[in-house]
Amino acid sequence: MTDPRLVPEGPRPAGQDASDLMTLSYRSVAQEDLSQPAIDGMVTKAQRFNASAGITGVLLHDGRYFLQILEGPLEQVTRLFSSISADTRHSEILPFAIRWLIRRRFDDWSMRLIGPMATRAVAADMAEIDGADPARIDRLATDVLAMLRR
Ligand SMILES: Cc1cc2nc3c(=O)[nH]c(=O)nc-3n(C[C@H](O)[C@H](O)[C@H](O)COP(=O)(O)O)c2cc1C
Repeated sequence: MTDPRLVPEGPRPAGQDASDLMTLSYRSVAQEDLSQPAIDGMVTKAQRFNASAGITGVLLHDGRYFLQILEGPLEQVTRLFSSISADTRHSEILPFAIRWLIRRRFDDWSMRLIGPMATRAVAADMAEIDGADPARIDRLATDVLAMLRR
């Protein structure tokens, strides 16, 4: 059963196809001793799974925080987020910006990892991103896309 708190509010947008496309973001605190090779290995596995599940997005890591933007069909996104929430490699998981999507923003990326330098360029202070300002996540997604396209 899908956790009702993870289902976007409001009607699905007109013109959306039958795939229940949604987006969900969260910020979390990485486990302190999580090494870069461990993160790289995790992302390689995630890319394989996401490609098979129709999930796309980005994972920003600034050394202390993760911020992930997930996109995909409702059932796949909410099920993956349940696994991610139970993962001990991070804690203090704060979901936000749960919304229906008309089209994907990261359709080229089954999960693109953005490392500390690039993350600081688009989100200087991840502690300040707390979900209180949903437009902030949209601006962040736009900034990440602009950076990836350069
Ligand atoms: C910050 C973070 C982001 C993750 N992102 C994904 C992801 O996008 N896709 C994925 O399959 N697993 C991701 N994982 C791994 C999942 O938490 C989990 O290990 C994986 O879905 C396998 O779950 P299972 O062991 O319950 O089968 C992520 C883990 C962390 C800590």
